[in-house]
Amino acid sequence: MEERVLTKQLTRDFDVESVRNDFPILDREVNGKPLCYLDNAATTQKPGVVIDSLNYYYTNDNANIHRGLHFLSEAATAAYENARMKAKEFINAISASEIIFVRGATEGINLLASSLCRAGTFSEGDEIIISHMEHHANIVPWQLMCERNGAKLSVIPIDDNGDLIMEEFDKMLNERVKLVSVVHTSNSLGTVNPVKEIIEKAHSYDIPVLVDAAQAVQHDKIDVQELDCDFLVFSGHKMYAPTGIGVLYGKANLLEDLPPYQGGGDMIRTVTFEKSTYDGIPNKFEAGTPNIAGGIGLGVAIKYLRSFDMHEIKKYEHELLVYGTEKLQEIDGLRLVGTAKNKTAVLSFVMDDIHPYDIGTILDTEGVAIRTGHHCTQPIMQRYNLPATARASIGIYNNHDDIDRLVAGLKKVKEMFI
Ligand SMILES: Cc1ncc(COP(=O)(O)O)c(C=O)c1O
Repeated sequence: MEERVLTKQLTRDFDVESVRNDFPILDREVNGKPLCYLDNAATTQKPGVVIDSLNYYYTNDNANIHRGLHFLSEAATAAYENARMKAKEFINAISASEIIFVRGATEGINLLASSLCRAGTFSEGDEIIISHMEHHANIVPWQLMCERNGAKLSVIPIDDNGDLIMEEFDKMLNERVKLVSVVHTSNSLGTVNPVKEIIEKAHSYDIPVLVDAAQAVQHDKIDVQELDCDFLVFSGHKMYAPTGIGVLYGKANLLEDLPPYQGGGDMIRTVTFEKSTYDGIPNKFEAGTPNIAGGIGLGVAIKYLRSFDMHEIKKYEHELLVYGTEKLQEIDGLRLVGTAKNKTAVLSFVMDDIHPYDIGTILDTEGVAIRTGHHCTQPIMQRYNLPATARASIGIYNNHDDIDRLVAGLKKVKEMFI
């Protein structure tokens, strides 16, 4: 069995100006202004080391993995499996076999929903608990599954600040619940949920828990052993890695008991026309040629992030969040949506009667990139009776100047509309 301890790998003090130099895209102009990128919850920019790793792989090591004996195939396989080891260390999984490479959080959740369904985990009347602040990626796959087996979703409500109402969660736990699937950090409110408490409570009823950490791993240290979650998903592209790669983590014993998601090459042991047998984990869940370059890029992004102390990143981003919150609250007519005490990196807001799309369009002319819309969380918009919000979301390279430019842009929006 592999070691349970985290490998220490800190080399750099956190200094935002030197971090900014790591991201080539920050040198470009948009609409004649230096780029001010505040759409990190949608996707993050990539450091030069990640971009270079893709170039290096295709220039030097490109080959299919796992099934070639030649030099390049072995080099590509080693690089890909090394990335799996980095992902294992990143979230402190016990074994690299607990790391399933997927396209992203969405595919991870669909994989799990499909395999649990095929395993016969849910029957008519069974329940899956999610929360009111889930991304559509943690709603729709379960609905699709419920259509097939008659199970139903139960939803933990949220209060006006965007906190889960935990007393309601307590009341929802019963023996018909077969899974709790909750978001660690909300992409549209910024709320950081008490996932450890949720897991402990669910486990007291022997209910397994999936954590959607798509907005968590880039902002804080996530340790699956400490959380004791049964499954966890995240997307590479939201944590400075390429698009099209992410991770589904699962406890080895649970993954071993699940049937495969897709069939094809690389996931089998034997195939005859009568019957096929499957490989062990993680291969059983990784049919076909994977995103090799993306996996390698994810490994490099993890190495990049881990070159800092994650607590330093958390502290810095929190400071920026507090600064941004104060500055936005000074704007007359602006209302923040999502004011939970434990919050990270997300400033969602509405302003007077100005449609968020207009806010986003005008900010774009100033070189400021934010997101507007429902952020793939329509139930949250329904909860707050809003068609959409404007959302600025913070990443590792944002600085106080970015917040100042956002605020200046919003003042311009007001001038144009009022
Ligand atoms: C909380 C959360 N979960 C899941 C997802 C889906 O991630 P992806 O589109 O990378 O699969 C997102 C994307 O915004 C998200 O914010």
